[in-house]
Amino acid sequence: VKHLLGIKFLTEADLHLIFETADHFKEVINRPIKKVPSLRDITIANLFFENSTRTKLSFELAEKRLSADVINFSAASSSVKKGETLQDTVNNILAMKVDMLIMRHPNPGAGVFLSKHINAAIINAGDGAHEHPTQALLDAYSIREKLKDVRGKKVVIVGDILHSRVALSNIFALQKLGAEVKVCGPLTLMPKHIESLGVKVETNLKAALEWCDVANMLRIQNERMEITYFPSTREYVQQFGLTSDLLAKLNKPITIMHPGPINRGVEVSSDVADSEHSIILNQVENGVAIRMAVIYLLASKIK
Ligand code: CP
Repeated sequence: VKHLLGIKFLTEADLHLIFETADHFKEVINRPIKKVPSLRDITIANLFFENSTRTKLSFELAEKRLSADVINFSAASSSVKKGETLQDTVNNILAMKVDMLIMRHPNPGAGVFLSKHINAAIINAGDGAHEHPTQALLDAYSIREKLKDVRGKKVVIVGDILHSRVALSNIFALQKLGAEVKVCGPLTLMPKHIESLGVKVETNLKAALEWCDVANMLRIQNERMEITYFPSTREYVQQFGLTSDLLAKLNKPITIMHPGPINRGVEVSSDVADSEHSIILNQVENGVAIRMAVIYLLASKIK
């Protein structure tokens, strides 16, 4: 494996290897000296053609903890604004002797396209509404940490499934690891053939919560919509917003996740997001160890 373009291309054994490597790096980054010299001879470019807080900073920190040389590229302040193509941009960056690219791009398949035209390792940091593999890895890793194992767990992904790369990558990862996955949300925000992936669709949030061990709450991705989908935000909150009142009606505690950024008071209320059952900040913490593991494992193939 030279690239990480999507969870679709990984095996269950690959996922376990990434988790075991992340276990080691999680221990490393909790030491007083958080850095290891493993990637001293590697140069990594972080290419962000779309906004990011968690993924961008987490990759940069992971690279620095591994002692790689790091350069950052933001499309908004680059010559992309003068009309330079993706392929020309990347080839110019690679001419500076860069070994690995981390790329977030608004177009689905951008990483797959580039991988056929360049000679460097690529990690997909989110490509449009397609895949966000390191998010799914850190999500599954956080479930494993909280509930000891992913196998046999029931996970519901709630929200705008249609426009979500997090949902697709999570479905692939969780199923490969032996979890049962449902999706819950308005039918207008559900891909037509989602059940062909082996997930059941639930439109009643309370029923979905009663079924699951883990609820992964997603944001409505307004930036990916050309039209306004039904329901309105107010109706969405009434039908799909997760509140402490709803959780109190269940006869068991469930684990609450969110990939961020959160719209507090829309998909999840503030008190639920900050509650003892929320592992939202653990997900962010685990993102650094997971990205260190992925970069380290791919770098071992290029040197
Ligand atoms: N979860 C996630 O991808 O967040 P950012 O868009 O802030 O990177």
